[in-house]
Amino acid sequence: MDNQKIHMNGGDGPNSYANNSEYQKQLVGYSKIVMAELIEQELDVGIINPDCSPFCVADFGCSVGGNTYLAVQNIIEAVETKYKSNEQDQENPQLQVPEFLVFFNDLVQNDFNTLFNYIHGNEPNYFTTGIPVYFGLFFPFERGSIGNSSFYGRVFPKAFLHFAHSSMSLLYLSRIPEEVLDRKSAAWNKGRIHYSCSGAAKEVEAAYSNQFRKDIQAFLDARAQELVPGGLMAIITLTILDGVLPSDSPMAINFTILGSCLQDMANMGIMSEEKLDLFNLPYYYTSPMELETLIKTHGCFDIVRFEKLPTPLRQVVIDVQTAVLSVRVVTEQLFQQHFGKDITEELFQLYAEKLDSHPVLKDDKYRTDASYFVFLKRKTKISKPGS
Ligand SMILES: C[S@@+](CC[C@H](N)C(=O)[O-])C[C@H]1O[C@@H](n2cnc3c(N)ncnc32)[C@H](O)[C@@H]1O
Repeated sequence: MDNQKIHMNGGDGPNSYANNSEYQKQLVGYSKIVMAELIEQELDVGIINPDCSPFCVADFGCSVGGNTYLAVQNIIEAVETKYKSNEQDQENPQLQVPEFLVFFNDLVQNDFNTLFNYIHGNEPNYFTTGIPVYFGLFFPFERGSIGNSSFYGRVFPKAFLHFAHSSMSLLYLSRIPEEVLDRKSAAWNKGRIHYSCSGAAKEVEAAYSNQFRKDIQAFLDARAQELVPGGLMAIITLTILDGVLPSDSPMAINFTILGSCLQDMANMGIMSEEKLDLFNLPYYYTSPMELETLIKTHGCFDIVRFEKLPTPLRQVVIDVQTAVLSVRVVTEQLFQQHFGKDITEELFQLYAEKLDSHPVLKDDKYRTDASYFVFLKRKTKISKPGS
């Protein structure tokens, strides 16, 4: 599991994330208005001195393409508006609109070249830099260690950032829970590739949920240290609605179909059963209630807004090929790393055939997922060690 290739497909070709992430782009678009409203309401313009320091923004899990650019643009526009309106303020007339320094953070394997070509092609009105981080390699040491860790550890110095953003990235676990791959454990997920797959034991879901709890805690610990007191953080993440069984979610249907394609390939002798048993996808879809409880229990952030975003899928994923590509661009690297490069054409061909005969894309009863927008403010006084 060390250094697992969870990054998105790079480049800007037909199978790239940049060209097949319309779903994620729509979510960033939906968050624009609420983001502007909350920045206007919550940003304390006194958290920096614009004469001598930039306003620092970081996008955690930026990936490749226009989505991260759009998200950052939305944040900067709103912050500029806030400072401009403040210029009229008689009590703080000296505060100018600050300069901006934006950090694009993702794993070292992310295609930063395509990302920066895109950003500079769009003439950003801010300074930029990439922050590539390691995943897995340093994981056993990363909690509490400084530098070079994935976003589940410290990426920036203390009290350095003014705004943190992360969209559709916190559903990536830092690792597959060990017990899911352990033959002797009740959580062994034999023959299935995810906890949501049809027939998976409840212990498998519990193991994923436990890992998610640890990861969110680590993420919030790190951001609580990196954000200045009063700093802001916006998160967009995909959830399975409260009270819905994971196996009744659209993700479950997709992963059960993908798993059955891999099983067919194992039956044809293209891969061994043992190899299949050792493969699980590192995604966890929290429920809104679980996520809200974890943030509250953590204690370093005030929840300013926790709201459901509209669902983009209906408008953008209309045909099977588009649906297959949207799954392929996020999972292909994982399949290739575990099963080898040669299997993916056949895998996604089989997947397209099976998906075509399933009602999941057409029937509203499968719409049991929802994306949430969460806006947090770092408390001014926190009692955690190291903060
Ligand atoms: C689905 S993409 C989302 C990209 C973009 N934010 C968007 O909304 O389109 C998730 C990204 O998170 C990155 N990621 C996942 N876990 C990470 C970690 N622990 N540290 C840094 N990046 C991570 C992945 O490499 C991937 O590029």
